[in-house]
Amino acid sequence: MMESEPLLKDITEKHEQIKVPSTTLILAVCASCIGGTFQYGYNISIVNAPTKHVMTFINQTWTERYNTEISEQLLTFLWSIIVSIFTIGGLVGSLVGGTLAIKYGRKGTLMMNNIFALLAAFFMGISHPTGLYELLIIGRFLTGINAGIGSCVQSLYLGEIAPRALRGAMAMGTSIFITGGIFTGQVVGLHELLGGEGYWPILLSTTFIPAVVQLLVLPWFPESPRYLLIDKGDERACDEALKQLHGADKYHGEKADIEKERLDAVGVKPKKPWELFTDQSLRWQLYTIIVLNAFQQLNGINAIYFYADYVFSQSGIPENKIPYVTLGAGICELVTALSCGLLIESLGRRALIIGGYSLMAFWCFCLTVALTFQEASPWVPYLSMICVFAFILSFGLGPGGVTNILTTELFTQTARPAAYMIGLSVNWLSFFIIGMAFPFIVNGLKQYCFLVFLVVCVMVAIYIFLVVPETKNKTFLEIHAAFQHKDRKRVNGSEGIGATLWSTSL
Ligand SMILES: *[C@@H]1O[C@H](CO)[C@@H](O)[C@H](O)[C@H]1NC(C)=O
Repeated sequence: MMESEPLLKDITEKHEQIKVPSTTLILAVCASCIGGTFQYGYNISIVNAPTKHVMTFINQTWTERYNTEISEQLLTFLWSIIVSIFTIGGLVGSLVGGTLAIKYGRKGTLMMNNIFALLAAFFMGISHPTGLYELLIIGRFLTGINAGIGSCVQSLYLGEIAPRALRGAMAMGTSIFITGGIFTGQVVGLHELLGGEGYWPILLSTTFIPAVVQLLVLPWFPESPRYLLIDKGDERACDEALKQLHGADKYHGEKADIEKERLDAVGVKPKKPWELFTDQSLRWQLYTIIVLNAFQQLNGINAIYFYADYVFSQSGIPENKIPYVTLGAGICELVTALSCGLLIESLGRRALIIGGYSLMAFWCFCLTVALTFQEASPWVPYLSMICVFAFILSFGLGPGGVTNILTTELFTQTARPAAYMIGLSVNWLSFFIIGMAFPFIVNGLKQYCFLVFLVVCVMVAIYIFLVVPETKNKTFLEIHAAFQHKDRKRVNGSEGIGATLWSTSL
């Protein structure tokens, strides 16, 4: 590699930035997301429609099998296992995803991951004919693993194939496809489509469709060039991949960035998750992704969706029309995810995520007031409805999309898979916790639970303001340096405001 040094310098000087994604890049985003976060969102939402039908099925099978009536509690318990085992699977998937991505490559892992979805679709499809509701639990666990691995590895893949100037916009593919998946699931689960009584086994096994689509399209796209060069040391393959992604005339700048990152990583093995905790230079990045990923789930967005039905029915919307209004909320989130993708490269990550959390705090306040005085006047329920929509929009604009891209950007190649493992495990774990604890929180605090979320949102906004530098259009190495610079300032006397905040916020 000695002779490549001067050439490298030459190329860097002529570095032209790629501002518009090539068609190949856009298609590569779609190909990786369809089996990744699309599956994730889709499986979160299709399970809602058949709640009653599946419970009836379990009730019947139980009676046939044991000749006794199933108790109300046990039935509810079995159903909540079917719903929430998905998050446990997700946790497992995100723990193994990083390791698999190092071993089999980003693309290879994504391809293999579809096996879980196909198996899950099979199990859930045959559970009704065989009368084994246990297969639903196994199937949901497998879809969870699929979603966990998919969201982890897909984010790695997107973050690594994207040209620097488009990294944010392309990583937004992640949240666009989550919301797209949720929305598609809501539509398919409508009563007119597969939401009807006898269709739930088909509905649950439609998860095989995105898997098959990915198996057919992803092979046409290259492996991550960063993985090929830095992890595998295969320069030819890396060149080929870059040419295919960016065009033969434009790929040099990207190559230069990757080369620099490789020289920095010479002799460094991919880090293990526990090694990140002991590396002082990565301390603040690590705190940051833990905070961001935990609060992406714990910021009240789940509470909003839970309250949405209640708020809508209070506004006088008839019971059977509510699914359509919820669908409206889904469209809103999808639209904001798209606009966040357009804004992220101009406004920057910091502005969007700080703004998002601040707005969410504001709407929490309005919603608490509106819910408290719900009875005061006939128009107050409409105010609550506006707050619900505004909260969802603010979430989509900020934390919904930016969290993920920051997890990619705060780390360099050797630490990134481990960082994803940690960030996403925290994310899934928080998802599980909020799912379990949420009914109790709402029953205990009623509408005042939004005051808790208000405080949470404000704290997170302040944390980001103090700790996270803008990462827009910086190389991964520059971002790394920005953190170390901040860290040095903290050590050299200036009291470490971030450190104080960190300890008090716990
Ligand atoms: C189970 O089904 C039977 C017969 O349809 C019904 O009477 C009973 O209430 C159901 N049990 C539960 C716990 O829903």
